[in-house]
Amino acid sequence: MSSTGQATGGVDSLLQEHRQFAPPVEAAARAHIKSMAEYERLYRLSLEDPARFWGERAGELHWFKKWTRVLEWNAPDAKWFVGGKTNLSYNCLDRQVQAGLGDQTALIWEGEPVAPGASYEIRRLTYRDLLRETCRFANVLKSLGVKKGDVVTLYMPMVPELAIAMLACARIGAPHSIIFGGFSASAIRDRVEDAGSRIIVTADGGWRRGKVVPLKHTVDEALNLTDKVRTVVVFQRTGQDTPMKSGRDHWWHELMATARDTCPCEEMDSEDLLFILYTSGSTGKPKGIMHTTGGYMVYTYLTSKYVFDLHGYGENGQATGPVDLHWCTADIGWVTGHSYVIYGVLPNRVPTLLYEGAPNFPDQDRFWDMIQRHRVTIFYTAPTAIRAFMRWGDQWPARHDLSSLRILGTVGEPINPEAWIWYRKHIGKDHCPIVDTWWQTETGGHMITPLPGATPCSPGSCTRPFFGIDAAIVSKEGQEMPPNAGGFLVMRKPWPGMLRGIVGDRQRFVQTYWSQIPGCYFTGDGARRDPNGNFWVMGRVDDVINVAGHRLGTAEVESALVSHPRVAEAAVVGIPHDLKGTAIAAFVTLKAGQQPSEALKEELAKHVVKEIGAIARPEQIRFTESLPKTRSGKIMRRLLRELATSGSVKGDTTTLEDFSVLAKLRESDEG
Ligand code: WTA
Repeated sequence: MSSTGQATGGVDSLLQEHRQFAPPVEAAARAHIKSMAEYERLYRLSLEDPARFWGERAGELHWFKKWTRVLEWNAPDAKWFVGGKTNLSYNCLDRQVQAGLGDQTALIWEGEPVAPGASYEIRRLTYRDLLRETCRFANVLKSLGVKKGDVVTLYMPMVPELAIAMLACARIGAPHSIIFGGFSASAIRDRVEDAGSRIIVTADGGWRRGKVVPLKHTVDEALNLTDKVRTVVVFQRTGQDTPMKSGRDHWWHELMATARDTCPCEEMDSEDLLFILYTSGSTGKPKGIMHTTGGYMVYTYLTSKYVFDLHGYGENGQATGPVDLHWCTADIGWVTGHSYVIYGVLPNRVPTLLYEGAPNFPDQDRFWDMIQRHRVTIFYTAPTAIRAFMRWGDQWPARHDLSSLRILGTVGEPINPEAWIWYRKHIGKDHCPIVDTWWQTETGGHMITPLPGATPCSPGSCTRPFFGIDAAIVSKEGQEMPPNAGGFLVMRKPWPGMLRGIVGDRQRFVQTYWSQIPGCYFTGDGARRDPNGNFWVMGRVDDVINVAGHRLGTAEVESALVSHPRVAEAAVVGIPHDLKGTAIAAFVTLKAGQQPSEALKEELAKHVVKEIGAIARPEQIRFTESLPKTRSGKIMRRLLRELATSGSVKGDTTTLEDFSVLAKLRESDEG
C-alpha cells in the first residue's frame, strides 16, 4: 500500500477525483432518494426552510406532545422541536409492537465461540422480547433508586444486555454514559467523577479472541480510585469467578428475576439529556459530549433511513418488499455504535445485528461468514478494518456468498482509495454503492456523505452534505475558500443532532467549537472541496489524532506518560501507519539520573495502557535529552512528526531554542 489515511492532497487524489462511480441502477430503483436532482431539490429546501423540512420528518416518529417550534437558535445554543415530548425507547420498541411487529426480529446477536470448534451462540430478540427486557431493566434501575436525570454508567461487552440497558435508561430518562470496554480503570474513574454517576452496569467479562476481558475486575480497580459509585450491577456473561462486594454489587439476573415486565415511558422534553459520551479533545481530559432527546432522535432516524437507504416494515406493520438487515460493526461504546447499531436503526423498523468478538477469530473470514449466514444487507465498518481485510487476503471473502449485501459504508477516518476500490470489488462485488460517511461524536449523526441511490462517488471523498447541513471550507478568518484550496471544515447552520454542550464546562464548549471561526461550528478537521462540490477531508488540524478510527488527544497520552515517576517531559505525535492510518509516536525526556532502556520503553507503553487503555499504546517511544521548542516554548510537533516518520528533519528549524537538541535525539538502543 502506498498511502494510508491520505485520501486527500497531492496528485493521487486529484486523479482519483475524476474516477467517479455512479450509483448502480439497482441501488437507485427502490431508494428513498433516487437521483442527484432529488437530492439537490431537498437539500435546497432543507436549508431554506428547515422548519418545514425537519418538521415533516419528525412527524414520522411518535410524540406524546407535538413541538411548538422546530428550532430556536441563539448561537451557540440550539433548541430543536421546542416543547415537544417524546421518548426514544418508545420509538425504538413500543411503536413497533403496536404496529403488530411484536413477533418480528428486532436484534440478532452472535457471540464469539467460547472454545475453538464450539458452535456460535446466537440470540434473536423480537420487538416484544426487547421491549419486555427493557421494561424489566428499567424497573430494576428504578428499584435501585435511579431517577430521571441520574447518569448511569455502562461498561459492558457487546451483548444484547448493553442495548437493553441503554434503552432502559432512555425509557426512564436517566442519561447513560457508555464507556468503551477497552478503557482502563483510571479512565472509568475520570468519567464517573466528571459525570457525577453513582451507578455502573457492567459484566463479569466479555469474550475477545478466545479470551475473557475482565470488565468487572477493571470496575473494581476503578472503584478503588473513587468513592462516588454506590451501586454496581453485574451481568453474567462468562461465568468466571467474580468477587462481589456486598451492599454495592448486584447480579443482573437476580434483580431481573423479580422485575415487572411493564414500565411506562417517561415523557421526555425534546431538550432533556439523552446521553453523555466522552471523547478526546486537543487539551486536557476527555470531554463529556451531551446529546438531547428530540433532535438526536430525529437526526439519527433520518440519516439511517437515507444514508443506509433502510427499508423496514411500514407503519401498518407490513413490508412492501425485502426487509433489510443492518450490521454496523462498531462497538456500542463509540458514537457510531450509539447512533447506527441502536438509536437510528430501530425506529426504522429494521433489525440490527450485534457481534461480540473480533473480526479474525476463530478465522479471518468471521465477518464474511456472518454476512452469509444472516443474509446481511447493509454493512458499515471502518477503513482500518478494511485495510486489515486487504492484508489478510482476497481468499477469505471469496469463500463466502456475499450476494445479500446491497450497501457498504465506512466511517471514522479518511479512506485511502486503494482500500475503497478493494472494498467495492471484493466485498461489494462491484454492485454495492459505498457510503463514506464523515461525522463526529459531537454531530450525533452523518454530516457529509453520499446517498446510495443518488450520489456519484470518488474513492476517498465523503462527497456532499446531508440535508440541513451547511458545510463549508473556510480560512482562519472565516472566508470561504475557492475550489480545491484547503481550509477548515465548519458548519454554518445548526442541525438537530448537534451536541448541546460539554458536561460541566460551558467555557470549553464555547471555546472549542464556537470561537475558532467567527459564527461557525468548528470541526477540528481540515478539508477541501473540489469543483464538483465534493468534500475531501484531510484529517485533524488540532492536537487530536485518529488511531485506527479512534480519537485520542496527544495531551492525554502525554499526561499519561508524564504521570510515570521516571518521566520528566513527553511529546506525542501521530505518524502514518499502514493499518491504523495513524499511530502514536512518543518522545520522552527522563528525569535526572534515569537511564533509557528497552525495558523502560516497554514499561512506559504499559503505563499508558494502564492509564488510558490499549488503544493508546504508543507504537514508537524515543528518548531525548530535551524536546525541540519554539522561542515561545511550544513543542515543535511538525518537526517531531517528521523525525518519527522519516528519521530525519528537513525544512526550517531556525525557531528552535536549542539546535543541539536535534543531534541529541536518539533511540535508546542506539545510545
Ligand atoms: C474523523 C466518529 C474522514 C474526523 C464518527 C472526525 C473521518 C473524527 C470520517 C471524529 C470520514 C470520521 N472521513 N475522516 N468518513 N469519519 N472522521 O468523534 O477527523 O470518533 O473529526 O466520530 O474522525 O471521530 P469520532
